[in-house]
Amino acid sequence: MCGIVGVLGTHEVAPTLVEALKRLEYRGYDSAGIATINEGQLDRRRAVGKLVNLSDLLVHQPLAGKAGIGHTRWATHGAPNVSNAHPHKAGPVAVVHNGIIENYRDLRARLAEKGHDFDTDTDTETVALLTRHFMQEGHGPVEAAKLTLNELEGAYALCFLFDGEPDLLVAARKGSPLAIGHGDGEMFVGSDAIALAPLTDRITYLEEGDCAVVTRTGVTITDAHGDLANREMRTIHMENARVDKAGHKHFMAKEIAEQPVVLGDALRHYLSDDGRNIALDDPKLDFASLDRLTLVACGTAYYACLTAKYWFEQVANLPVDVDIASEFRYREPPVPPRTAALFVSQSGETADTLAALRYCNGRAERLLSIVNANESSIARESDLALPIYAGTEIGVASTKAFTCQLVVLLLLALKAARDRGAMTEDQLADKLSAVRSLPALMNLTLERGEEFRRASNHLAEADHALFLGRGMLYPLALEGALKLKEISYIHAEGYASGELKHGPIALIDQQMPVVVMAPRDALFDKTVSNMQEVMARGGKVLLVTDRGGAEEADDGVWWQLIVPDCDPLVAPILYALPAQLLAYHTAVAKGTDVDQPRNLAKSVTVE
Ligand code: F6R
Repeated sequence: MCGIVGVLGTHEVAPTLVEALKRLEYRGYDSAGIATINEGQLDRRRAVGKLVNLSDLLVHQPLAGKAGIGHTRWATHGAPNVSNAHPHKAGPVAVVHNGIIENYRDLRARLAEKGHDFDTDTDTETVALLTRHFMQEGHGPVEAAKLTLNELEGAYALCFLFDGEPDLLVAARKGSPLAIGHGDGEMFVGSDAIALAPLTDRITYLEEGDCAVVTRTGVTITDAHGDLANREMRTIHMENARVDKAGHKHFMAKEIAEQPVVLGDALRHYLSDDGRNIALDDPKLDFASLDRLTLVACGTAYYACLTAKYWFEQVANLPVDVDIASEFRYREPPVPPRTAALFVSQSGETADTLAALRYCNGRAERLLSIVNANESSIARESDLALPIYAGTEIGVASTKAFTCQLVVLLLLALKAARDRGAMTEDQLADKLSAVRSLPALMNLTLERGEEFRRASNHLAEADHALFLGRGMLYPLALEGALKLKEISYIHAEGYASGELKHGPIALIDQQMPVVVMAPRDALFDKTVSNMQEVMARGGKVLLVTDRGGAEEADDGVWWQLIVPDCDPLVAPILYALPAQLLAYHTAVAKGTDVDQPRNLAKSVTVE
């Protein structure tokens, strides 16, 4: 993943680089580093761990200069130590990289034959060494960088800085996103526009295969064929306050608490003024002309898609395939005629989801996407991108983006029901009223946060947990388990309740909490039987249900958490909050790093 930044500034750049890296830290926090040119000479500082360690280092060993590059790392090749931290430097060239150079072993072998030594275990070092090699052959910096790019296989966003060239950055993109920022007498390079938001709102996105030669007065971009390319400069509206927890202990807590508001924002954008209809009139969203919908995503977004399958099939009678992007892209499935492909991604940059979208380009009738980052690659390469209006999500574990993805998917399913004549106007208005009640129901659920905290103190003592759900709540069992494991490091598995007896029941003992997500719906009795199967084996059931469910559940339930009553159709959205709260409070009780859990990164731009 990694975040990269480059600045040709009018002032000292080290603080600007660190500030921009702070806004990219969601991409990785294994190490960080910057390089600048001071009096014509490259110099660098690098530190293991979070950015704060680099900031501390810079206090004692400041770095002067008005041109520089920076990097925040999510380790792919080589342990997260100082020598593997970027920028990588070879003689007169320093480089920062996001992506994976797949042919780095071949390149290393070739470089070794030519007598080059290696200081790191990274794939990126080969980029610096190759560029130095071409410079030693007599090429200028730009030419040497371009010759290097020709040799690289895999994915990269790269930014080069050269000794004696304080007015030059060379940036290139293939497979990983990269933005050029235009200032007044200053120029910037960043992994995304958010990193550059305090510096400029004028952004040019590089396209696949582009190489940009950036000077203080502008940028010259060539495409994959080396031809001059004219890329549009856009004015981007980005919120600036990325690093404000608004009084919460963690970004995740803030983002959980924001859900009633941001979900309300999404509804305002997608519903008519009276709230009785869906205001999505683009012909690309005409579901009557479709026979099939393919939903593709990763992680939490994939679970949103799994939930949506229930909605589209039940309310709109539209068959849906759901796929994990990393499987879909290599399975190369046939895409039947009259199929629309819909990609769901918070970041809009997830490499596998983007590759799946590209696979569907020319195969599916339409490429639709649901994104949080409106200027992302997935949004830009879709025929139609629907924003989720969740606002910037910083906590690595997705919360508000998930519920906003769900609500947009539900509105699409209801629109599909209307388009396909599967629902009358009155039925639609009735379901929309249930959707509109969600922000209020979410507020009521959040008010019970203390109960979730108390239950989580017990959950925190477990080494393993199971999550069970039926029907529309099954994907939420998967999401609840993912949330718990990623931030509390408790091993957790999600299962369809009915699957319990087909294997996982063997795990049940007194140490194993089983979190059951089950409103009192048409399937509740079956879930009660599953809970009894657990309790008969000494398992501890933590039941998340509504008042009706609580009344009917067996006395032997270990812990009950009550959620307000809601229409079963919207239950997966409301019950997402208990899943998030349980994971959050468990992680807090365990003292883990809630916002930046180990080994993870927010935007997964490598496969
Ligand atoms: C889990 C989580 C991840 C992401 C996944 C896809 O809390 O956040 O599983 O959902 O990496 O990311 P996006 O939505 O950016 O494509």
